[in-house]
Amino acid sequence: MSVHIAAKKGEIAKTVLQPGDPRRARYIAENFLEEVKLVSETRSILYFTGLYKGKEISVGASGMGVPSIGIYSYELFTEFDVDTIIRIGTCGAYTDELKVFDVLNVNNAASESTYAKYAWEIEEEILPPPGHIFSLLNKTAENRSLNLIPTTIHTSDIFYRKSQEIPEIAKKYNCSAVEMEAFALFANAQYLGKNAATLLTVSDVIPTGEFISADQRESALKPMIELALEAAMN
Ligand code: ADE
Repeated sequence: MSVHIAAKKGEIAKTVLQPGDPRRARYIAENFLEEVKLVSETRSILYFTGLYKGKEISVGASGMGVPSIGIYSYELFTEFDVDTIIRIGTCGAYTDELKVFDVLNVNNAASESTYAKYAWEIEEEILPPPGHIFSLLNKTAENRSLNLIPTTIHTSDIFYRKSQEIPEIAKKYNCSAVEMEAFALFANAQYLGKNAATLLTVSDVIPTGEFISADQRESALKPMIELALEAAMN
């Protein structure tokens, strides 16, 4: 048992799908997996393990932000021998060239966060997804004729801010969208020699104010969830 995940050794699969929201983890487990078992509910951060087309997969939440995904992804990699984490989240687009419902595969996450530096002495402020899962997702999307957009994003510690200006780091690296977790996930995977990727569905377009409503979210996220599950089969 680890500090924040109450599952026993062997109860978590080698590949984990990681949404931010525990209720989304439950939705995926109940609607896409068979023979599902709830393996941890510490702090109501739910983890489930089940079968997708016969293959064992786990799905569990990261919570919101760099510290939270930093903890959960580290414990999954180190305490449960997880090989691959696919984050499945939402993001805000900085540009109206992206539309709500677009699905992005993060090819670089830039951040002002000091997480990578102070956790692992990784000095870079922009990190790629470590391992082979990024390209496997691209190939899987191509086979499914899903338009998956490789994108450089900003991992921010801030959701609410005074200025409406695009933050400096996002301008510096030409980030098209913002979320709050990928950079820490990539830092952990890089340090530990594991595989990680981040798929994001655009939930809001910041310059136009367009957004996906709460009741559209479940169906909006379906293509991304199915893509992650299909890639996890390999
Ligand atoms: N996730 C979804 N929309 C976001 C936004 N506008 N900022 C940060 N994270 C987000």
